[in-house]
Amino acid sequence: MDDKDIYQEFIIELYKKPLNHGRMAKADYRAELDNPTCGDHIELFIKAKNGVVADVKFSGSGCAISQASASLFTGYIKGKKLASLGKITPDDVLKLIKIDLSRNPGRMRCALLPLEAMKKALAGK
Ligand code: FES
Repeated sequence: MDDKDIYQEFIIELYKKPLNHGRMAKADYRAELDNPTCGDHIELFIKAKNGVVADVKFSGSGCAISQASASLFTGYIKGKKLASLGKITPDDVLKLIKIDLSRNPGRMRCALLPLEAMKKALAGK
């Protein structure tokens, strides 16, 4: 099994057992977003405390890439300062999933859905 297979297995595993999955009753920031290319949906919830992401959850439906990306992305932003979240780039997110999507703009959109949801959530407050 090479590295590529290991990462594909890792993505499938996160799809089956997503991290930080669920809803949050009293989120400080919340946004819903659809992927217009497929109609899949993500909802992101952020709880803040003392200017830091104290908890983050996501729900919704999507492909393995979007669900794995949301799992990894939520883990990545947990504990970060709210003020630093705006500096997270698409490249930062793509590094988390470790799959080259540069030739697949459709899948790129799937992977970046959680980042877009976070930006929408922060802008809505
Ligand atoms: Fe819908 Fe990826 S195909 S989110």
